[in-house]
Amino acid sequence: MEILGIDIGGSGVKGAPVDTANGKMLTERFRIPTPKGARPKDVAEVVAAVARHFEWKGPIGAGFPAVIQRGVARTAANVDKKWIGTDAVELLSVATGCPVRVLNDADAAGTAEMRFGAGRDRDGVVFIITIGTGLGTAVFTDGVLVPNTELGHIEIDGEDAEFQASDAARKRDGLKWKQWAVRFDRYLNRLDALFWPDLFILGGGASGKMDKFRNVLTVDAEVVPAQLLNEAGIIGAAVAAEVLVKGF
Ligand code: BGC
Repeated sequence: MEILGIDIGGSGVKGAPVDTANGKMLTERFRIPTPKGARPKDVAEVVAAVARHFEWKGPIGAGFPAVIQRGVARTAANVDKKWIGTDAVELLSVATGCPVRVLNDADAAGTAEMRFGAGRDRDGVVFIITIGTGLGTAVFTDGVLVPNTELGHIEIDGEDAEFQASDAARKRDGLKWKQWAVRFDRYLNRLDALFWPDLFILGGGASGKMDKFRNVLTVDAEVVPAQLLNEAGIIGAAVAAEVLVKGF
């Protein structure tokens, strides 16, 4: 099935048509910078521009960096607060003229990794952690997603984990990968003690840098880099939108 996957991020809105049977993008991805402030109307215009670029008329799956319950955004950590309570499905369907499914961005990336990447054929409890502007989490038990986990926001020393251990935090504080990894390792150990996952898959910018910090990590659970790198969000959003066509 060919579905347009779109990954709405803190710095860019990226999209490409995806063959959901094999998880391959059918063209180069197309990217437009996220409009400043990431207000709903402005983001919708950019999503529509991505769809127009591909002259898209079919179903669209979009990953968005917030809790998405029944199509409605419930949080807005790194985007404009006007998103809270916004019906993202309606907004983006009207803007593009296409049927749209919207889900949390980390859930989208996790869906792709489980089907086509580092989580393929892995049962038990698997965590995908996307390390970017925020810390996104997707949790799977025997391959089934528990949607909208917001475990980037657990508190460590009274502070939001994301504030210390995201990639944005690494850049903000001018940390080397190993220095940042000390913080990230504390975060992984906390998750490990609370959820006892079998596998952590690390996605986002850090996934390509694991060689630089792998030996800093002390957590018991297995930790591997994501395999689909920065395409996971696009591919997973497209896969998640199969329900628009198949109706389940
Ligand atoms: C948001 C999550 C999102 C993550 C990654 C966090 O700040 O609360 O919903 O998945 O960033 O973008």
